[in-house]
Amino acid sequence: MTSTQTAPWGLASRSGRLSALLGVDLPILGAPMGGVAGPDLVAAVSKAGGLGILGHANLAPDRVRDEIRRTRELTDRPFGIGLLFPSGAPPERDPATTPPPLPDFLRELGDPDPRVSVVGERTYDHEMAAERLEIAIEEGVPVLTCGLGVPEAVVERAHRGGMVVVSLVGSLKAARAAEARGVDAIVAQGHEAGGHTGRTSTLVLVPQVVDAVRVPVIAAGGIVDGRTLAAALMLGAEGGLVGTALLATPEAQTAQSHKAAVVAMADDDTVVSRTYTGKPSRVIRNRYTEAWKGHEHEVLPMPAQWEMVAPLVLPAKQKGSMEIGNWPTGQGAVLVQAERSAVEVVRAMAADAEACLSGGPPAADGEG
Ligand SMILES: Cc1cc2nc3c(=O)[nH]c(=O)nc-3n(C[C@H](O)[C@H](O)[C@H](O)COP(=O)(O)O)c2cc1C
Repeated sequence: MTSTQTAPWGLASRSGRLSALLGVDLPILGAPMGGVAGPDLVAAVSKAGGLGILGHANLAPDRVRDEIRRTRELTDRPFGIGLLFPSGAPPERDPATTPPPLPDFLRELGDPDPRVSVVGERTYDHEMAAERLEIAIEEGVPVLTCGLGVPEAVVERAHRGGMVVVSLVGSLKAARAAEARGVDAIVAQGHEAGGHTGRTSTLVLVPQVVDAVRVPVIAAGGIVDGRTLAAALMLGAEGGLVGTALLATPEAQTAQSHKAAVVAMADDDTVVSRTYTGKPSRVIRNRYTEAWKGHEHEVLPMPAQWEMVAPLVLPAKQKGSMEIGNWPTGQGAVLVQAERSAVEVVRAMAADAEACLSGGPPAADGEG
């Protein structure tokens, strides 16, 4: 049997329910990566047969509308939008109040830019996320992913607006809560994943969630090629959500220095740290994350931590500084060894997964 034929135990039969729900040919979702998953990447993933998802947690509402429209110009395939609704985060600070002081030891890394404020951006603010959601509904985006939490009112509103709602979770408890709130599918995201992440590995989390919920489960964290996708499907997931494997694609808005670091990573150079946003996030280890050693008790809760460090971190990020910027990256980066187009990544992943599931040899690298 060749890798392109479908078998009763193959990709299509294991993912039919999810593919029908999302309106896609392949059970591969491009992760809603903030600052990375813009129209080009999203359209490329959707054109390849998967579901591209705009990473729009931090865009101003006007930009959200523009980027949705731009994506639609590039593809007539379905795509989604990713928003963040952090549970337990206090409301964002009133712009009139002064930000918390930057700890002294961080000043040794560089001078914070006093003009930088994240209050206007309001990445973690539910109200602004709700505004972005209204725009997505007006523009007819078919799928919403919610990260860091999924309020019932958001599920209800998105459903009334005709959207399929997918919740990203990092624990069994969160998966059960998301299902109780009425979501249509759950992404079980393991500890390996880039960005905000939980404590349980993908291999352990996915079967737990599959056993506990009735809605389709999508695995995330460490899915970088066909064999890792096939493994997730063997665990009972009906699809995979892929972030790190798409970082080094020409379509992604990833900074050049970040792309280069992903391709060059030979050992696991990532660390889970609360020091950027206030919640645990897997990022590339650097001088900034190391500088916090011994100061962990000074980390503030989300969103205050981000507001405190943004005047140092955002300008560094804009300059591509690998030493101070926050560069969310999964452990799977070690397996990403070259820059490839997103279409190639998605198609090769599907073909190789099919071969693995059918018991045949994976296609040679680059085939499919
Ligand atoms: C650069 C980057 C940015 C991310 N930004 C977001 C985000 O804004 N919202 C979100 O829900 N998830 C975000 N994530 C997490 C992804 O949605 C996804 O769960 C994760 O990348 C999957 O694991 P993997 O990196 O091993 O593929 C981000 C991940 C990365 C690598």
